[in-house]
Amino acid sequence: MYQIAQLNWTDTYETIVVGVGAADSIDEGLDTLFGGRVKALIQSGDLSTKTGEVTILPTFTGETARVLFVGLGQRNDMTTENVRNWFGKVSKLIKSRGLKDVAVALDTFTDGAARIFTEAYEMATYAHPTYKSAPKEAVEEPTITLLGDVDQTDIDAGAAYGKGVNVARTLTMMPANILTAETLADYAVELAKRHDFKYRILEKEEMEGLGMGALLAVNQGSTIPPKLIVLEYRGAEEAPIAVVGKGVTFDTGGYSIKPKDGIVGMKGDMGGAATVLGLFETLGLTRPKRNVIGIIGATDNMISGDAFKPDDVITAMNGKTIEVLNTDAEGRLVLADAVTFAKTYEPKAIIDVATLTGGVLVALGTDVTGCLTNDDTLYRSLEEASRETNELVWQMPYFDVFIDKVRKSEVADLNNSPGRFGHMIFGGAFVGEFVGDTPWLHLDIAGTSERAAANDLGPKGPTGVMVRTLARMIESWER
Ligand code: BES
Ligand code: MN
Ligand code: ZN
Repeated sequence: MYQIAQLNWTDTYETIVVGVGAADSIDEGLDTLFGGRVKALIQSGDLSTKTGEVTILPTFTGETARVLFVGLGQRNDMTTENVRNWFGKVSKLIKSRGLKDVAVALDTFTDGAARIFTEAYEMATYAHPTYKSAPKEAVEEPTITLLGDVDQTDIDAGAAYGKGVNVARTLTMMPANILTAETLADYAVELAKRHDFKYRILEKEEMEGLGMGALLAVNQGSTIPPKLIVLEYRGAEEAPIAVVGKGVTFDTGGYSIKPKDGIVGMKGDMGGAATVLGLFETLGLTRPKRNVIGIIGATDNMISGDAFKPDDVITAMNGKTIEVLNTDAEGRLVLADAVTFAKTYEPKAIIDVATLTGGVLVALGTDVTGCLTNDDTLYRSLEEASRETNELVWQMPYFDVFIDKVRKSEVADLNNSPGRFGHMIFGGAFVGEFVGDTPWLHLDIAGTSERAAANDLGPKGPTGVMVRTLARMIESWER
């Protein structure tokens, strides 16, 4: 689908994508396609150089049929973030207009534009799966020629990042009657086989043997057995980085039941698990020299005569007892045992990813992932990666006052819901009780794992957030 060639204005393409800035920097070869009138077109306003504005013009010569101009704006508008968004917009146009033979003049944009383009193209042209009975028309993939001194590895890396995001989006979109703990595990196994990862699926009986009383309590009301999914990517001989995902395939809230409007959409409560699997898709394609272990606690949170209840006291795998004050604070219970299990691999860092609290939505809105950490250096490397991917993160305070409240219970070591105010932090602090001294990042993606409207890089709905940031962080990890 992607080809590499050198830019030659006399070569013929159906469409060529060109960045256009100041009128006096127009390439002569490009100008020739328009009879020397590009400057005049800019001055007359028929061709916009405004940031991210797209103008499509047929050429005057009739060889290359048309040029798709992207306005570059001012000099400092050429950020990775902007270029990615512009390429996303262009990609959507390629798809919606059914263009089949497109060349991209990468040098008219920025260094490293090839990788940015393929990442944006994969993300922007993605469509969520549907279950509509009318058969989908097969669309022919376009040929996209990347013009310039382009490395195949950059093309592949960009596409790998985008594909990882799309795996996460697809899984998050799937309804809970189709994506259960069981089918999520099946998908993980399929992914592991495809990329030659070691994997292990722990069944309910094994979890019972290990004493995973927290995860099992959440599953208690369900007719579908839970799964603990473990994937191992080995690219080096070293202690692994553990990435732990909340895989609640549906969250009714349990007996602390959600209001009817709060239940709709809870098929997406495995967004953290989806991030882990999307990340492993990317790792499988990019194969960095790192070790990563992915762990997913998968179950739904249902109600029945067997379900766990408020006031129950349960015992987690690490022996800590938990007073359940709210069965809707189930994600932290799932993570508790998944994190304890992760620690058996003696990881050098633990990163948990979860749609954990509505509180993070209140605090940070829908564009920023809320974080907690016990290690500032680790947080800085996340921040750095997130600046490159433009997936925003913000560190919340992990003060002792929060930890004290998580440990407050008359009857147990911990309670799972100390109250409404600051509850994003309580959620993270609860998970922190199972992490111990291992460097740790907690990523609450409840606000960012889905979006209410489409943007240049994809449709509304699941975003696959943090797949690229974690992949980037792992790729640039300092030993
Ligand atoms: N899955 C929810 C969090 C959530 C809310 C995700 C909105 C996506 C959108 C989580 O299990 C939950 O119910 N959290 C409670 C915690 C509370 C009971 C302490 C919440 O946010 O209200
Ligand atoms: Mn819940
Ligand atoms: Zn939940």
